[in-house]
Amino acid sequence: MPSPLGIRITGTGHAVPDRILTNADFVRMVDTTDEWIRERTGILERRIVGDGESTATLATDAARRAIENARLTAKDIDAIIVATITPECPFPATASFVQHAIGAPEIPCFDVCAACSGFIYGLVVASNLLHSPAFSNILLIGAETLSRITDYQDRTSCILFGDGAGAVVLTRTQNGGSSALLNWRLHSDGSGANMLWVPAGGSRLPASQMTINERLHYMKMQGREVYKFAVKRMLEMVEQTVHEAGVRPSELAMIIPHQSNKRIIESARQKLNVPESKMYTNIERFGNTSAASIPIGLDEVRRDGRVRDGDLVLLVAFGAGLTWASALLRL
Ligand code: UT7
Repeated sequence: MPSPLGIRITGTGHAVPDRILTNADFVRMVDTTDEWIRERTGILERRIVGDGESTATLATDAARRAIENARLTAKDIDAIIVATITPECPFPATASFVQHAIGAPEIPCFDVCAACSGFIYGLVVASNLLHSPAFSNILLIGAETLSRITDYQDRTSCILFGDGAGAVVLTRTQNGGSSALLNWRLHSDGSGANMLWVPAGGSRLPASQMTINERLHYMKMQGREVYKFAVKRMLEMVEQTVHEAGVRPSELAMIIPHQSNKRIIESARQKLNVPESKMYTNIERFGNTSAASIPIGLDEVRRDGRVRDGDLVLLVAFGAGLTWASALLRL
């Protein structure tokens, strides 16, 4: 088990676009019903970017809120990491756009591409950077504009996804372990890479008239297969992570799972025997926002007082890659 690190989450923030896409909107676009979407996914509405909005603008808004919440300024930030699968552009990193927008110094800025597990991957990377005296405050953001890669002609996937960003400031503590990343797990299995992916637009299949005609720049998902993988891994992650840390699930103040599908979350909740109040969901309002879903949730529960300093919080995610990950935090 990795050793505890002397880090604290000193600030959180999130940002979502104003524009709302309801289930009724989908009934007008594809062969579906409000009832099917509610029952199969738990989603009522999602937020979608409009003109002038992008992954970097959402990430920047979330970042400003997190920095303010930490009572810091952009000048205090020593590195920026953005977890995303919908970057501002293929390169440079979305983190570079955020750095310029918030006026941070000439610090390391890079992106992490681990899909829905990206925020937890970024958390582990940031925590390890904080071992070095070169870093005191790291800005970690999960930001997505999935609407830009969603095929609104594909009813099996388009109903799931939304846009948003969540950010945290991680700060190295002077006294070591007063609060910490207590345990974590990061996994991937590339044999499932094409179960959830965007086939074209990279080196494998560069953009061409054919790739556009074939709609290969949109996300393709084998929903049922990914569903089975997610249910299995979510349960396994929670059980292993708390067990290794010597914590009982009943000691957790909150589990914040990646918001993929309400049924996946509910299935794990029932098997773990966790009360509804301790299994966080916001998928009803935001849909599946990939790397953004966990930091949005973390900000919401911190700000509305559902979790407090000293509480144990478990983050758990799974998604494209395939990847899966968990992090046990003491706030
Ligand atoms: O973010 C990380 C990774 N992503 C996930 O974790 C998502 C995982 N997968 C899922 O959430 C679910 O598989 C979906 C929500 C995508 C689909 O739900 P499902 O219960 O697995 O449906 P299904 O694919 O088994 O399809 C059941 C039926 C099919 O019809 P037939 O073959 O039984 O006649 C589909 O064609 O539902 C049909 N269907 C729809 N019907 C109305 C599929 N999409 C829709 C739709 N509206 N939007």
